[in-house]
Amino acid sequence: MARTPIIAGNWKMNKGTVAEASALAQEVVAAVAGKSGVTVVVCPPYTVLHTVRTALTGSSVVMGAQDGFWKTTGAYTSQISAEMLKDAGVSYVILGHSETRGRFGLSEPEETLKHYGETDATVNLKVKATLAAGLLPIICIGETLDEREGGKTDFVVSSQVAGALTGVTNDQASKLVFAYEPVWAIGTGKVCDAAEANRVCGIVRKTVHSLYGAEVAEAVRVQYGGSMKPDNAAELLSQPHIDGGLIGGAALKSADFAAIINAA
Ligand code: PGA
Repeated sequence: MARTPIIAGNWKMNKGTVAEASALAQEVVAAVAGKSGVTVVVCPPYTVLHTVRTALTGSSVVMGAQDGFWKTTGAYTSQISAEMLKDAGVSYVILGHSETRGRFGLSEPEETLKHYGETDATVNLKVKATLAAGLLPIICIGETLDEREGGKTDFVVSSQVAGALTGVTNDQASKLVFAYEPVWAIGTGKVCDAAEANRVCGIVRKTVHSLYGAEVAEAVRVQYGGSMKPDNAAELLSQPHIDGGLIGGAALKSADFAAIINAA
């Protein structure tokens, strides 16, 4: 079964004003007009979801959110539920990004950051809540440089995949998107070698296979993320286990984002 490639732009905490978000979303819409055979997602900050939804009206580009909470409603000051995201027009939700797992790479003291870290357990709760709301998770996994140098990449990646999936049914699992994002490649300009990225995306698929069998493993889409740019996208996207990209920096320029979509 052929998998439809998926290119998602993670805007992070950028393009967060109404004017900026509207302009970039409209440029993306124009850039993908008439293209088919690829799922294109833009993931703006929460405060401009409405703006981006308006800009995407009538286009094949769909919207994603950068996180979501696992409770549906209640006294959870500051949190955004999957139901709220759905109502805002969101289709995909990025979960377990290394920036939220790793406290955004901030260097403030432990005392300051102690409530910010994401774990496999919180990612799992969010995955289940997102699926229950009828939205599709993009589950991020990936090793740090220390873990890679310590020979732990495969173990880290397969444990993060398995940890995210506790209690997820076969039917739900087949709809999932994973994003293999080596932490050392994010925002650094150091892209993972295409053959190695393909190998690790294969580990993601193998882990899904061990949990859910061949059919689900063939159905899930696995993106690569980490300094994907127009000049390296074609090589990465031509690998058999790489079904798309999760794009940070290059998603902020519509021409770069469009070039990556074309490569897919
Ligand atoms: P980058 O970010 O493309 O800027 O490396 C990717 C990501 O964090 O999803």
